[in-house]
Amino acid sequence: MSFTYKNDVLTCEGVPLPTIASAVGTPTYVYSRALIEQAYRGYVDAFAAWPPLICYSVKANGNLGVLSVLVRLGAGADIVSIGELRRWLAAGGVASNVVFSGVGKRGDEIAEALAAGIMAFNVESIEEIELVGAVAATAGSTANIMLRVNPDVDAQTHPYISTGLRQNKFGIAREAVAAAVATAARVGHVNIIGIDCHIGSQLLDTAPFSEAVGRLAELVVALRAQGVPIKYLDIGGGLGVQYRKPGEAVGPTQQAYAAAVMAASGSLRELGVQLVLEPGRSMVAPAGVLLSKVLFRKAGEEKHFTIVDAAFTDLMRPALYSAYHPIDPVVRPPVDRAMRVTDVVGPVCESSDFLAKDRELPALAQGELIAIGVAGAYGASMASNYNARPRPAEVIVDGEQFHIVRRREAIEELYQAEAVLPAQGR
Ligand code: LLP
Repeated sequence: MSFTYKNDVLTCEGVPLPTIASAVGTPTYVYSRALIEQAYRGYVDAFAAWPPLICYSVKANGNLGVLSVLVRLGAGADIVSIGELRRWLAAGGVASNVVFSGVGKRGDEIAEALAAGIMAFNVESIEEIELVGAVAATAGSTANIMLRVNPDVDAQTHPYISTGLRQNKFGIAREAVAAAVATAARVGHVNIIGIDCHIGSQLLDTAPFSEAVGRLAELVVALRAQGVPIKYLDIGGGLGVQYRKPGEAVGPTQQAYAAAVMAASGSLRELGVQLVLEPGRSMVAPAGVLLSKVLFRKAGEEKHFTIVDAAFTDLMRPALYSAYHPIDPVVRPPVDRAMRVTDVVGPVCESSDFLAKDRELPALAQGELIAIGVAGAYGASMASNYNARPRPAEVIVDGEQFHIVRRREAIEELYQAEAVLPAQGR
C-alpha cells in the first residue's frame, strides 16, 4: 500500500499529504508512481503464460505524467479520440502500439491516426468500415482493423458503464460479423487483423469475461477457417477495483482474471494469437486520491453537511453513478473524537454536488484535510470547469519526491478561447 498512515499522517510513498497540500494547495489529485507500476506489472505477471500487449485505456487518466510512467513500462494505448492520441504521443508514446476504439470516429480523426501509423482501428459498425476504407484509399494506404463484436453478455455492473449487451450502442452483433467481413473485402484498403470486445467496466466477477472471451474465441477460430487471418484477440478492459464500500463484493485479483481469460480462450494461445488488454480503471484507480480541505460544517435539522473545497466538477463519479469513494482524514484523529454521519459536499450550486452521502466519519474540523480515495481513474479525466472552477492540480509522488504533473489552471485560462461580441452590434 502506497497510501499509509505514518506517525498518524496519511502519506503517499515517502511524502506526507500535508506537504503536498501546503505546496500545491487543494483540491489536488495525488498519484503514486509505485502503485501504477505495481498494477502494470501485476498484469504482466498474471499473464506470463500468454504475454499480452497491454494497451492502457487513456480515458481513465490521460495526464501526461501518468502516461509517461506507462510509456516507460512499455505499455501501448487504447484511445477513443485524436486528442487522446496526441496526448499519448506528447507523453513519449509511440503510435505503433495504439488501438483506436470508439463508436463514433470522425473522418479527420481516422486520417490523422492512419498517418500516425497506429496499430489498428477497433471498428464498431459497417458504416465505420466503409469510412475507414475510404479514408485509407484517399491516403493511398491500408488500415488495419479489428472488429469490435458485441458478445451479448451481461457484465452485471452499473447500467451506464455496461457495454456488452445487445441493447447497448457498442460493437457489431455476432450475426453481422459476416457482413462486416464482406464489407471489408468490398471496400478494400482495410485488413482485418483482430477481433475485439469490451463488455463493461468495474466488473467484480470473472464469469462475464469468461463468457465473452469464449464467444470471441469461437469466432476467431471460425474466421481463421474461412481464411480471414486473425492475429489479435483484444478483450478490452473492465476489471473492477475495491472502493472499500461496506458490503462491497470482493473483486477478482489480476491472477484470477488472467486464469479465467486463459481458460476461456480455448486453443488461441497455441494458434499464436496475440492477446491485447485495454485496462483503464484497474491500472490507476487505486493509485490516486483527491486531496481536499474542509471549508465549513453545517448542522441542519435533518442532516449534517461537511462542505469541502472539492466538488462534483472535480470528481463526478458519486453524482453520476452514485459511486462510493472512501474518505479518510489526512491527519488521523484522536481515538476519542466523536463519529458523525454527514454528507460531504462541494461548493457548487446544485444538490448533485456531493462526494459522499450519509457517511460516518470522525467529526471533521474546519481546515482539516481529507483524502477521497481510489480516485486515480475517471476522476481528473472527467473533471469540468462548471461554475468557472479551475480543475484540480495533479501531482505524482515518486519515492521521497513529488512532481506537479498538472499545475492548477489560472482563472483566465478558463475563458481564454472565448470572445465578447464586437461593439457595433445590431
Ligand atoms: N476499452 C474500451 C473500449 C472502453 O470503452 C473502456 C472503458 C476501457 C477499455 C477501459 O475500461 P476499464 O478497464 O477502465 O473498466 N466513467 C466510468 C467508466 C467508463 C468506462 C468507459 N469505457 C466510471 O467512472 O466508472
